[in-house]
Amino acid sequence: MPDWVALYYDEPLEIVSGSGSRVTDAAGNTYLDFFCGILTNMVGYDLPEVREAVARQLGTGVVHTSTMYLIRGQVELAEKIARLSGIADAKVFFTNSGTEANETALLLATAARKSNQVLALRNSYHGRSFGAVAITGNGAWKTSQLTPFAVHYLHGTDRELPAFAGMSDAEYTVAAVADLRHVLATATAGDVACLITEPVQGVGGFAMPPDGLLRAYKEVLDTHGILLISDEVQTGWGRTGEHFWGIGAHGVVPDMMTFAKGLGNGFAIGGVVARAELMDGLTASGISTFGGNPLATAAANAALDYLLSHDLQRNAAVLGTLIIAGLRDAAESLAAVGAVRGKGLMFAVDLVDPVTGAPSPTLAARVLEQARARGLLIGKGGLCGHALRVAPPMTLSEAEAKEGLGILADALRAVDAEASG
Ligand SMILES: Cc1ncc(COP(=O)(O)O)c(C=O)c1O
Repeated sequence: MPDWVALYYDEPLEIVSGSGSRVTDAAGNTYLDFFCGILTNMVGYDLPEVREAVARQLGTGVVHTSTMYLIRGQVELAEKIARLSGIADAKVFFTNSGTEANETALLLATAARKSNQVLALRNSYHGRSFGAVAITGNGAWKTSQLTPFAVHYLHGTDRELPAFAGMSDAEYTVAAVADLRHVLATATAGDVACLITEPVQGVGGFAMPPDGLLRAYKEVLDTHGILLISDEVQTGWGRTGEHFWGIGAHGVVPDMMTFAKGLGNGFAIGGVVARAELMDGLTASGISTFGGNPLATAAANAALDYLLSHDLQRNAAVLGTLIIAGLRDAAESLAAVGAVRGKGLMFAVDLVDPVTGAPSPTLAARVLEQARARGLLIGKGGLCGHALRVAPPMTLSEAEAKEGLGILADALRAVDAEASG
């Protein structure tokens, strides 16, 4: 295995079984899982509706046919996603991952605009392929500087920079939009293909632009014909509670959205939804051998139907509000805890040096260990690796939300006490 595939924890964890919001490791320890395989087990572990849909498909003897043949589940899933997208006259193409979804979106945008100039946000992460790494705005994940694109990075989630100190959301938005205009006027050749952005930056530690910034960006982009791609790999399917797609917070419908992670509830599926004219803009043939295969689409249809029929977006809004408020209360008296931010069941807690206030990846790693020792799995991220990332399954119950909040608050107090000496 490559050195660059890193494991969490001093003693790496092997998960061997799961049910609902809980998993069990090889040593028999059970945990409440508030990271879900990186926001992927969206409707929890071993949901009967998903298990049975997959078993039915397996029972047919057909796991794979390829896109050379009709796949009923794929067509049905495409129709659902096109409808949910809010994009007029939408078409959907399925891939196996978020990386591949973003590659496809970039291919569509650059082909439509006949330009390899791409705008991305600082602190972004869009995948691990050659093209996706090229639009990564986070040094820790930028595995190569070689690039198929000419990339320019915009502001959006960097309010802590001295240049923006003390600005309100509105003032920051004005400054960021002015910078976009300036980048277009000074650094590009005028025919930029697209802006690709996460509405809430996943790997970036759930850093968020102020609501409305992406609409303000789109108003400028529209005057140049530049396309807007929303990377909904982490924010899709109602996880942010207030909207079904993360970009909903900005009051704008993008030209394309990419998705993956939660859709298959662990089965490998991702994709792009885009206006038909963009999707059909490629003139040569294309396939995806595995993308949208019968097994993955059976799982995805079942997971999506369950999510919609149980209004899990609302559950994410209600329980997210409860946990975020509880974490803010707990954080007040803890010098090692910085900002608490997030939306719905997608929230983060920054760990900082209690004396200097500087981001502390060491303390974040300690909280991960302390939470694990108390039976809770969480993740981390952020530009400095100092943000705890928390994203429970959207099927979470209120009792589990309170239990997880209690454990996390306890772990934060323990690490704060260690750090404050
Ligand atoms: C916002 C975002 N886009 C794209 C990706 C890449 O997805 P995958 O790992 O499925 O290729 C990720 C993965 O974490 C992500 O968070």
